[in-house]
Amino acid sequence: MTASGTSSSGTSSSGTSSSAAPAALLVLATDLARQAGALALSMREGIEQESTKSSPTDVVTAADRAAERVIVDGIRAARPGDGVLGEEGASDEGTTGVRWVIDPIDGTVNYLYGLPQWAVSIGVEVRGVTVAGVVFDPAKDELWQAVRGSGATCNGRPVRCSSTTELGQALVGTGFGYDARRRAAQARVLPELLPACRDLRRMGAGALDLCAVAAGRLDAYYEQGLSPWDLSAGGLIATEAGARLEGLGGAPAGPGMVLAAAPGVFEALHDLLARYGMDADPLES
Ligand code: IPD
Ligand code: CA
Ligand code: CA
Repeated sequence: MTASGTSSSGTSSSGTSSSAAPAALLVLATDLARQAGALALSMREGIEQESTKSSPTDVVTAADRAAERVIVDGIRAARPGDGVLGEEGASDEGTTGVRWVIDPIDGTVNYLYGLPQWAVSIGVEVRGVTVAGVVFDPAKDELWQAVRGSGATCNGRPVRCSSTTELGQALVGTGFGYDARRRAAQARVLPELLPACRDLRRMGAGALDLCAVAAGRLDAYYEQGLSPWDLSAGGLIATEAGARLEGLGGAPAGPGMVLAAAPGVFEALHDLLARYGMDADPLES
């Protein structure tokens, strides 16, 4: 124990931790994702829309808020100085260089309608770099995890992205934003892409789409307009499973575009998306 009351493992006598070791951050992220997932699952029956956010179809339920509260309270108790960024409003830069990026329910529309495709997503950044990520899918009881440089797993088993090399054989996932102008632009590429690939899927939870790429359940996924909490954990899980994750034209993956693909089909899908105008954000023009 040091003079500040912190042991060599980084855990203080009050039960809090100052360690930024990715493996330790993953343990806490996993515990909180499981707690939040169980809470949301227990609130599902009879759940109703509480309010809307960016558009009339961008819904929020009491479960989104309660799940974020459980996660943020857990972080505050274990690691008081860390920063947080949560979709439902948690926002604090913190003082430790560690920031938790939280989507308490990714796939809220599915959750509201009783469809099983939704998950809790928690990514952990150290000085701006995502080093650990957890996506917990309560309906399937699937826990997706990654630590930077150590690979990705689903329920403890290593996952790898697909080895597909032909876009014509690729199953491609996508998503649509809540903004009507963005949707109109997103629709314009579909007549070109649909005949060029095996098929398209719109499953409704971006974090799970990224995990699907990690395990070869999709060969690729792209979406314009994702927020940091959609991308943080799933993006690390996809890249740790061997997928290529970028925006268009060499830009990093971000709000302009997230393209996660098996390396063998990345270029072909990238070029098609760029050719049909997906490199311009309709909300910027
Ligand atoms: C949404 C889902 C959806 C994607 C949207 C996201 P939410 O997240 O990930 O699949 O297409 O862009 O906003 O609102 O359910 O957390
Ligand atoms: Ca989301
Ligand atoms: Ca959400």
